[in-house]
Amino acid sequence: MARPRVLIEENLPVEALGIESRRERGASSALPPLYFLHVWWARRPLTISRAAILASLLPADTDPQWFLEVLGIKGDPVKVYKRILEARTTGEDLGTNPYGYKRAFSEPVPETIRKELHSRLTNYWASSSITVFDPMAGGGSIPFEGVRTGMDVISNDLNPVAYVIQQATLRYPVQFGLGLVDLVGNYARSMQKFVQTVTNGIFAEQDNERVWGYLWAHTVYCPSCALEVPLSPNWWLANTKKQKVAVRWKVTSNEDRLVPEVIDVTREDYDPDKGTVKNGAGICPRCHIVIESDYIKRQAQGPGLGFQLYALAIKVKGGLEFRAPTIEDEAAFAEAERRLAENLPRWEALGWVPNEPYPEITNDPRPLYYGMRQWKDFFNPRQLLSLLTYLEAFNAIKDEVTANHPADEAKAILTYLAFALDKAADYNSRMTRFDGTRNKIANTFDRHDYAFKWSFAEMNLTAPGLGFDWAVDQVLDAYEGLCKLLGTANHTMNWLSENRTLPTVRLGSASDLWDVADASVHAVVVDPPYYDNVMYAEMADFFYVWQKRTLGDLYPEAFLDPLTDKTQEAVANPALFSKQGTLTPKAQAEQDYRNKMQGVFREIARVLRPDGVLTLMFTHKRVEAWDTLASALIDAGFEITASWPVHTESEHSLHIANKNAAESTILLACRKRESERGGWWDELLPLVRQRILERAKVFEAKGFRKLDLMLATYGPALQVLSEYWPVKDSTGQLVQPERVLEEARSLVTQLRVTDLVQHRQVTFDPLTRWYLLAWDVFGAEQFPYDEARLLAITCGVDLDRQVIREHGLAGKKGKYLILATPEERMDGHRRGSLDRAPEASVDALHLALFLLNRDGSQAAGRYLNDHRLTTDTTFQALIDACLTAIPRVRPEWQAIHILATAYFRTSSQVLEQIQWELSQKEG
Ligand SMILES: C[S@@+](CC[C@H](N)C(=O)[O-])C[C@H]1O[C@@H](n2cnc3c(N)ncnc32)[C@H](O)[C@@H]1O
Ligand SMILES: [Zn+2]
Repeated sequence: MARPRVLIEENLPVEALGIESRRERGASSALPPLYFLHVWWARRPLTISRAAILASLLPADTDPQWFLEVLGIKGDPVKVYKRILEARTTGEDLGTNPYGYKRAFSEPVPETIRKELHSRLTNYWASSSITVFDPMAGGGSIPFEGVRTGMDVISNDLNPVAYVIQQATLRYPVQFGLGLVDLVGNYARSMQKFVQTVTNGIFAEQDNERVWGYLWAHTVYCPSCALEVPLSPNWWLANTKKQKVAVRWKVTSNEDRLVPEVIDVTREDYDPDKGTVKNGAGICPRCHIVIESDYIKRQAQGPGLGFQLYALAIKVKGGLEFRAPTIEDEAAFAEAERRLAENLPRWEALGWVPNEPYPEITNDPRPLYYGMRQWKDFFNPRQLLSLLTYLEAFNAIKDEVTANHPADEAKAILTYLAFALDKAADYNSRMTRFDGTRNKIANTFDRHDYAFKWSFAEMNLTAPGLGFDWAVDQVLDAYEGLCKLLGTANHTMNWLSENRTLPTVRLGSASDLWDVADASVHAVVVDPPYYDNVMYAEMADFFYVWQKRTLGDLYPEAFLDPLTDKTQEAVANPALFSKQGTLTPKAQAEQDYRNKMQGVFREIARVLRPDGVLTLMFTHKRVEAWDTLASALIDAGFEITASWPVHTESEHSLHIANKNAAESTILLACRKRESERGGWWDELLPLVRQRILERAKVFEAKGFRKLDLMLATYGPALQVLSEYWPVKDSTGQLVQPERVLEEARSLVTQLRVTDLVQHRQVTFDPLTRWYLLAWDVFGAEQFPYDEARLLAITCGVDLDRQVIREHGLAGKKGKYLILATPEERMDGHRRGSLDRAPEASVDALHLALFLLNRDGSQAAGRYLNDHRLTTDTTFQALIDACLTAIPRVRPEWQAIHILATAYFRTSSQVLEQIQWELSQKEG
């Protein structure tokens, strides 16, 4: 069957896409509505999602300008972005939106464009409906864009929480439009009425103030003086430009409970950054002994940690004010405890209390360490009491909703009300944190894990306009936003009368899509999990235990299990394995992830038409994931036909050049392999190299540099391997993706070195080469260890032994590697080595820099002359290369610049270039 090429196999406006993705996520206050409807982890930008879908379907010769228009890009973002960069150096003010059009995702697809799109697709595929499928759709970005552009969409996820989110994101806004907003709002008010009648007295309200929230610290008894010690890493309440307020504890010798006072830090001599807990260990503010971390955990797991209220946040015009708790506030909490005790047996009998045990088999046992054995323990007594009261209110109105509305509509209304409850739990647990720099509660999932929080916030859930009301507003705002983006805000009926089918949302493993027919899908677009980057199911349990109770009967297919399914989840989950001989749990988990992904790809191959396209979104996090995913893909019968890097990370993180947090999204286009071609590595190697070099040039011209450029060549390298699969080397061994990835790294770095030395004939020793490339590729002093190691292999140097131990050129810190400064190297193990002949050029360079910084330029000059380095062409080339590779903001760069001007005058175009740039800036 003929397979004419599609757009993604020919061309993709990667620069524009990168810019739009960064615009999309630039302002956390204006994220797409999908984000604040409900928490889901690792959501993808909408604009890339749309581009991936359409470029997998449109013909290769599609007019690029028209394609941008379909994406909602109504200007020339690349040109504007260049101007923005220029303006950063010149200080020119470009106004609030220099792009001149709204962010690409933010407007519905105009009907004319959608119609034209469809007539093109109908022609091309000879079919009036086009099916797009995302089998691992999570929060639903990809299918959402499928619906927006009018495709027949199927979306799927293994996780029940994601499944419900997808229903509420993809289907209900289309089915019910804006009309639903008032209905949900009204029922939310009925819930509030119910709640008000039974929660009287559990929050001490005063007429003249609106309590916004309560700030709590976990407490532990001091083993030495028996004081109840409130634990918090700092005692800030507000730490903004305008407001500096903190809590100070009055320590007395006779009372075993401390009294908090709220003070204005600008007026008193007090350091709120001195907390009572650091690295898991506490310190007693009275007898000053250290309370060991193990002791705290023992207490937490035994009698449990206590809670102490230390401040109330009061809503005032323009922000929050704080006051210390009163006796009434304490009494109200005691009343809440009493009521919880009174109601709990009844609620337990009804099955409403989330008393499922927190799993013993987990990657994040921290809740267990701190005594949270069941999910209900994630809440302090009043948090739990108020959430359960809302659950009771929800159940109280459920019958009314079901009686008053058609089943579908009732289900939708109840789903959004349940989301409001989820949001209330997310912002009202012992895993929240009050963020005094933003006057906000950082929710339970501010980070993607269950890190324990020493101090936490409680919402005044029942207060009118705050708490639960706020949660409902957020959900409804998000819903309205979805309707607007879908174009169903006012004309749901039009939408349906166009005969567009509702998207299908299914629940189950992507490795078993039993109800999706063979060869029925035009394009699969999927953003799979990456190894252990996010443990979706472990995270989702927090919501699952509530949804099970609110929505279990409405989605009976989804909530049968006690907790979410971890065994079928395609993530590398070491908790599922125990050590087997030499095989570590981690190694087994990675193997398991590979097998699962292969199962998923096999199933995708089955449902895909023979001429269909699979486009994979690949967010690069760990280099090994490339190897794993690629081999799973190839084994499942796919061939990679194109790959595009999209630079989705914002520049800010690299601005100060201290940490590289590279995040490129790679789009890999794949087709089902038509035949097993087979090939020999020796014969293919020249072709692999040629393809890598070709693509490197193309992407370099598109502005890709450094790590992004390297990533950009991985796809093309894999492409050749997959095209000729199976490929064997001269020993008869099957060549794994790893080999071609290594080839890509080595070629690109070779290219870079040649550029950096301006094509002069010099060879650096391996250590120096690594140092230079580390700066060049990562552009920061700190970068992922794994990648540093791969770079070292490429340079022919042993990272642990040579770079770290023998030369002290860098140090390891967790998952990162940090380059050492000349001073640190001299302070360290190479002290006294000034007289010794340096082994590597970079050692000599660092010695010179050390002397320069300590004794001044002349001392450095003497050293350079004594060792004939000023006339050494390799050293000269190194100086030049460093000036290009090291970011200008770095002190290393400035020091090398001083040496270059003082002692290497004969040099170079590099200096001329710098001089020229400086004069441009001044002029
Ligand atoms: C990277 S996320 C997708 C995020 C999504 N693109 C978004 O924008 O929200 C990967 C998803 O794969 C799901 N998943 C993991 N294993 C699965 C399996 N075996 N079958 C189906 N989905 C699975 C996870 O629950 C998660 O939602
Ligand atoms: Zn003490």
